[in-house]
Amino acid sequence: MTIPVLAIPGLATLALATQTLTTPALAAETQGAHSGSSATSSLPVPAPPVIPSASPAASSGTSPANTLSAPTALPSPAPEITQHPSTAITPSVSTDSATHTLIAKGRYVAAAADCAACHSMPGAAPYSGGYAFQLPIGTLYSSNITPDKTHGIGNWTEAQFMRAIREGVRPDGASLYPAMPFPSYARMTDADLHALYAYFMQDVRPVPRAVRPNAIPWPLSMRFPLTVWRWFFAPSPHAARKSAERLFASPQLARGAYLVEGPGHCGACHTKRGLAMQETALTAEDGPHYLAGGAPVDGWTPPSLRGEPRTGLGAWSEADLIAFLRTGRNLHGSSFGNMDTAVHHGTQYLTDNDLTAMAAYLKSLPPADETQSLWQPDLTATHALQAGGRLTPGQQLYLDNCAACHRSSGAGYAPAFPPLAGNPVVQSSTPDSLIHIVLTGATLHGTASAPSAFTMPGFGNRLSNTQVATVVTFIRQAWGNNGSAVQAADVKRLRNEITPSTMQSAPPTPMEPAPPQPNDIPKPPDASEHPAPQPAASTPASTDNR
Ligand code: HEC
Ligand code: HEC
Ligand code: HEC
Repeated sequence: MTIPVLAIPGLATLALATQTLTTPALAAETQGAHSGSSATSSLPVPAPPVIPSASPAASSGTSPANTLSAPTALPSPAPEITQHPSTAITPSVSTDSATHTLIAKGRYVAAAADCAACHSMPGAAPYSGGYAFQLPIGTLYSSNITPDKTHGIGNWTEAQFMRAIREGVRPDGASLYPAMPFPSYARMTDADLHALYAYFMQDVRPVPRAVRPNAIPWPLSMRFPLTVWRWFFAPSPHAARKSAERLFASPQLARGAYLVEGPGHCGACHTKRGLAMQETALTAEDGPHYLAGGAPVDGWTPPSLRGEPRTGLGAWSEADLIAFLRTGRNLHGSSFGNMDTAVHHGTQYLTDNDLTAMAAYLKSLPPADETQSLWQPDLTATHALQAGGRLTPGQQLYLDNCAACHRSSGAGYAPAFPPLAGNPVVQSSTPDSLIHIVLTGATLHGTASAPSAFTMPGFGNRLSNTQVATVVTFIRQAWGNNGSAVQAADVKRLRNEITPSTMQSAPPTPMEPAPPQPNDIPKPPDASEHPAPQPAASTPASTDNR
């Protein structure tokens, strides 16, 4: 994590702590404990899909309708379609059912805004905070945002809650660290925040747990520089609202823009940050930096979500995008690292209409890099691997360690074992994600509509820095891919950056391995040793196409 420094004339030069945006895990039971909430068909808002019974979430009694398999058409998606945010009216039904509806809507907004990703810890009560953000100036812990009156936000009024979410200001007037993505949440409507408040106050269980105090030494712990940061970089609610209400070609695009730029805070990861760690663009209006790919966070590189044909989403259809956000996988790739968390806690719960709107909006973003040509398959590497015989070191390492799952053609067994050939993330200009996943492995978690999990083993203990660099360079340049070469020094740097919390983000389910422990962090094999290639732990049965 780089040290963001903001020089303010007249004040000392202050290191501004900003977010590392680690998306932490959350106890799987988080998604609402409101049994039977969505059974009524008159609900104007959709609820998250049912979590399959294999997952611990089921036991908490979440019973939202599965939007994919719901036999009847779901009512139109929750929050109003942007143009006049404050005019949304709650239907006049009996108080009970109105409250019920409001809470269900609030739960949906919490998923769309991914609040759980940062405020819940695996194994701890939902929203009780304590997730550690490693900042250059110390460690910041996310707050307990359960309605506990002492340790949480139980005494907060709705106005105070809204101000914290949209403006980053606490009831005592102090500013929040922008690890809390209030510059994006500034766009959220009154109606959505009203529902969110009702959900937190009435449906989230109060947890009397004190979050550890931040380990940030004085004077850096003083919050007034954050106020200066806000003045410079966070939009005023008025400006954010005006921008959210700008004209779109269709209500669907307006809705997609609202979800992506607002609650979804996709730009917090997928947009590059400036010197003071502010996002260089907060909306599509701000220019082609927006969602053009962000810096690695915890060693995971968020790629461009714009229309570049190779490193962006140019070759993905709307249907591909919807599948990715709903299930974490599609025929082009799978979600891993902190994107797996974003799918797990957030996007998988959105309705088809909302995912379609997000996909349509993302597909409307022109490429930031106009020079890229479409990926074209090149069979040279495939033929070499299949013929055997004399292989280059990269080919040999790939054949020994990777081909069983990703195949000699690099096509994988999508969507379970993702393809590497033509995959945008494999060709990303910043290879950190690829090094990271080869070192530590990753688990593609199950979602409600794609319950199977698939695990890639880590190779950090088996392969040296040079070997990792060689095999990652191979996958970046084989099959028509054209990523740059990777150096052993990059692998060495990544080994130092990886911590247990960056290794696996989403919570383990019964089918999946336990969360990583500190001593799981891979050490390079002894230099004197020549690691024998071993078959991977869970290779698919068929390797006949090598
Ligand atoms: C990317 C991580 C992240 C996400 C997503 C996030 N938060 Fe936060 N939030 C934080 C951090 C970190 C803090 C502590 C900031 C500080 O102490 O300055 C915080 C602080 C807060 C506070 C202030 C609590 C207090 O006692 O001062 C509230 C309220 C809050 N968040 C609510 C929410 C809600 C509601 C959502 C979803 C709409 C959300 N947060 C999403 C990281 C996040
Ligand atoms: C906490 C950081 C973070 C947030 C927030 C986040 N992403 Fe990602 N995203 C990543 C990372 C890292 C990757 C690369 C790993 C992968 O492909 O899964 C990624 C990959 C993706 C991909 C696959 C792109 C490709 O070329 O394979 C899509 C699509 C995507 N994100 C969409 C979104 C959308 C839409 C949002 C907002 C709702 C979002 N992301 C929010 C970190 C994030
Ligand atoms: C046992 C099967 C298996 C083996 C062996 C394996 N992988 Fe994977 N790989 C997977 C799975 C499953 C995923 C999806 C993980 C996720 O989404 O969290 C994956 C994901 C990836 C990704 C990210 C692509 C994406 O879109 O998700 C890369 C890059 C990758 N593997 C490279 C390699 C390399 C290089 C090797 C050999 C050193 C290798 N893999 C060995 C199963 C395997």
